[in-house]
Amino acid sequence: MPTSPIRAQAAARESSVRAKIPGSLARYHRAQQSLAGGVSTALRRSARPSPLYFQHAAGPRITDVDANSYIDYTLAWGPLILGHAHPAINRAIAAQLPLGHTYGAQHDLEFQVAELLCRAIPCADLIAYANSGTEIVQVALRLARAATGRTKYLKFEGHYHGWDDSVLVSYRPTRQQIDSAAGAPIPVGLGQRPNHETLAVEWNDRPAVERAFAEAGNDLAAVVCEPLLCNSGCLPPDPGFLAFLRDITTRHGTLLIFDEVITGFRLALGGAQQHYGITPDLATFAKAAGGGLPLSILAGRREFMTLIADGKVVHAGTLNGNPIALAAAKATLEELSRDNAAVYASLWQNGERLRQGMETLLRDSGHPIITSGAGPVFHLSFLDRQPRTYRDTLAADNALYSDLALALLDSGILVLPDGRWYLSTAHTPTEIDETLTALRQILEHPLA
Ligand SMILES: Cc1ncc(COP(=O)(O)O)c(C=O)c1O
Repeated sequence: MPTSPIRAQAAARESSVRAKIPGSLARYHRAQQSLAGGVSTALRRSARPSPLYFQHAAGPRITDVDANSYIDYTLAWGPLILGHAHPAINRAIAAQLPLGHTYGAQHDLEFQVAELLCRAIPCADLIAYANSGTEIVQVALRLARAATGRTKYLKFEGHYHGWDDSVLVSYRPTRQQIDSAAGAPIPVGLGQRPNHETLAVEWNDRPAVERAFAEAGNDLAAVVCEPLLCNSGCLPPDPGFLAFLRDITTRHGTLLIFDEVITGFRLALGGAQQHYGITPDLATFAKAAGGGLPLSILAGRREFMTLIADGKVVHAGTLNGNPIALAAAKATLEELSRDNAAVYASLWQNGERLRQGMETLLRDSGHPIITSGAGPVFHLSFLDRQPRTYRDTLAADNALYSDLALALLDSGILVLPDGRWYLSTAHTPTEIDETLTALRQILEHPLA
């Protein structure tokens, strides 16, 4: 296409945003003097033109320290399924605060939330808690090793399972890294231990999975995947692919682990396993589980979870099951399950309306645009073909997406830098129409 109006206005948008965020720019400068990188998790540095500082948020909107208000589609990278500061979560936390922040001991919310989870999640006979997605994936893998007496596991390229050395491989490698790795797992950063236990193959590649099982099937403790690949383009499983994984793992005595840190409580109350109708042996949850507080969950079949119940597999953590996070989780689950989980219908409807609206506007203005994913979490890429694997996404024009994110920010719409969009139950057709109007304006009346 001739120069995109999105690209043409990027420099003007950058100046416009910079002029509006003096408070954030000054704070970021100050933070870098004492805080490594100036941010609390590395990815946040990629915000353009600069990381923003926020002062308050409610529902679908968030306000920065310079009093700019945005419709928020980042939702703290996923957790805020009910939107910001939902009154039910506020009430639950406020009720718990005077009763104690953490006991390091038992309390009623532990089993009350576990009971709700066992009712909602198909694979959940028993539950265990931790604080982050990274931690809980490690518990799941340890459990799989213990249950099978094997040490290796299979993951898929582009899938993210936290920052531990054991899983932080072959996550968004460059084409050059892929070519020079010759099939070996590719570490992401410096200082990672050599990884001899992970096999990484492409998502949706049945023959590659079959080859891995043919070569190492007797050594594979687990296959772990994001059932909807949200971290690299929201790529759905091909029809039958999850059933294939279920079948091949069962035949080899290997555990199937769904990492539902993003899809959990987002695609459906029972997660991707309910949505796709395939039940794994173990599943990990975080993000939406705590409604914005630190909580992660392992759900699994009794025959495996018994290893934790018996204390044969160590699962520990000072703050595990702390009452404030569980109060927030209980409120979140109660809100989501109200009226037979009726809220999911509008969450999906609003997500589809936004996704399709943007796709139409961008396509009609001559952009090669692909959206993938499902109502409450989708991905927008400047690509001319629907991707099936992480490698397909390497052809996307990420620089153009970054220019779009900048123009949206200038228009009061906050989105993640990587193309992923999250919706909450607090987003209504009003916010969605506002977003589509902003996009139309960007395309039809670009800043000079
Ligand atoms: C699918 C998936 N698994 C695991 C993790 C790690 O979770 P946490 O950041 O809470 O450690 C993430 C984080 O984004 C994730 O998306």
